[in-house]
Amino acid sequence: MSEPARIGILTISDRASRGDYEDRGGPAIREYLDEVLRSEWTAVARVVPDERPAIEAALVEATDVEKCDLVVTTGGTGPAARDVTPEATEAVADKLMPGFGELMRTVSLRAVPTAILSRQIAVIRGRSLIVNLPGQPKAIGECLDAVFPAIPYCIDLLGGAYLETNEDRIVAFRPKKK
Ligand code: MTE
Repeated sequence: MSEPARIGILTISDRASRGDYEDRGGPAIREYLDEVLRSEWTAVARVVPDERPAIEAALVEATDVEKCDLVVTTGGTGPAARDVTPEATEAVADKLMPGFGELMRTVSLRAVPTAILSRQIAVIRGRSLIVNLPGQPKAIGECLDAVFPAIPYCIDLLGGAYLETNEDRIVAFRPKKK
């Protein structure tokens, strides 16, 4: 048995960080992961405003300090002036993983025509995979259902925790047995 996975959940929202409204995205990600993951995992959750330095610092902390295998962000991916999550994510990246954004937008377009407004990306920093999701709580399942089958193997390739899924929900695809 490997160590429990560590998963960062980063809500990026001016209003949630000020306490103007309750963070709904972070809890929705946690609920999704509880439903999908069979193996043990630990959440490292934070809420930050839509400011590049704050987002970059939170991503660096989640990856370099907290050693998260996976970091999922929600919010700040759109075209508005304060939406800077993709820029902050790219700034801390060692590698870009363009397939994630492409697939999530393609699948999301079946749900909403405004899916093309999300500039969500995914990157590798060190041994961590970082995936951006839009801020809409319903986007969380729509996007993660599409990319999650490939996430456990991606984390294997980075040398991280061995993620096992509830197969009635998501079947993790691993080309080779570990
Ligand atoms: N993707 C999915 N799957 N479901 C959604 O409801 N909303 C879209 C888009 N992508 C949406 C989605 C909308 S309306 C916007 S403005 C963009 O995500 C950016 O959202 P964000 O700025 O909250 O990240």
